[in-house]
Amino acid sequence: MLAIIGGRGLTELKNLKITHRQVMRTPYGEPSGAFLFGTLNQKEVIFLARHGYGYTIPPHLVNYRANLWALHNQGVTEVISVATVGGIRADLKPGDIIVPDQIMDYTHGRDATFFETRDTVYRNIDFTYPYNEGLRQRILRSAELAQQPCLAGGVYGATQGPRLESLAEINRYQRDGADMVGMTGMPEAALAKELELRYAAIAVVTNYAAGRGDSVSGINMETVKATAIGSMERVRLVLESVVTCQDEVICGN
Ligand code: HPA
Repeated sequence: MLAIIGGRGLTELKNLKITHRQVMRTPYGEPSGAFLFGTLNQKEVIFLARHGYGYTIPPHLVNYRANLWALHNQGVTEVISVATVGGIRADLKPGDIIVPDQIMDYTHGRDATFFETRDTVYRNIDFTYPYNEGLRQRILRSAELAQQPCLAGGVYGATQGPRLESLAEINRYQRDGADMVGMTGMPEAALAKELELRYAAIAVVTNYAAGRGDSVSGINMETVKATAIGSMERVRLVLESVVTCQDEVICGN
């Protein structure tokens, strides 16, 4: 089963026909909110608002482990993360939708693994390709079918937040190879790998990163919010298309 984790601008999925809601308990505490079970285009999905349904949980306080553990426990096998980003790469502009293919982690102090105690039998996970390529391709193909332009590939730099970055930090991340910055990509992607979930992200560019484009003189949070909300309608269309694509050969699945 597919799960969708919604970020800023996507605390609900208007086109989801909700069958029931369920509060989850996990060994890691409570997820961000009740899971919404329902159907999207007649396909079963679970939806979860990463920041809570009232958008109250900041990125560094999201219980990523509880979210993913509970999804896995419900039989979820693939997860699409929807998140907003600031664009660093010159061709990324507000409103663009992009499916990243790599990630870099600048976060700290987050619970980033399920192997947390000295008596847990741990294994190192291969993280060469953080995002599941099959799911990425399905998203890209679905976006094409839904006639929603979507950029393929880019390096997501996961920052700590909740503040935005300084110009010097963005310069550094760009030198490192980051194409975009967002605050929730990690440890989510790594935890998904530990649980062997197929995981991919749809990133929505809500602003030029600090010091880039029209953010040279600062970033207006109202504009960021408005762009996030405005773009999510297109993300919803992509998601509808992804779930329909699930069984079709054309979508490479
Ligand atoms: N930086 C970090 N996270 C973000 C940004 C940004 O500029 N925009 C949206 N999420």
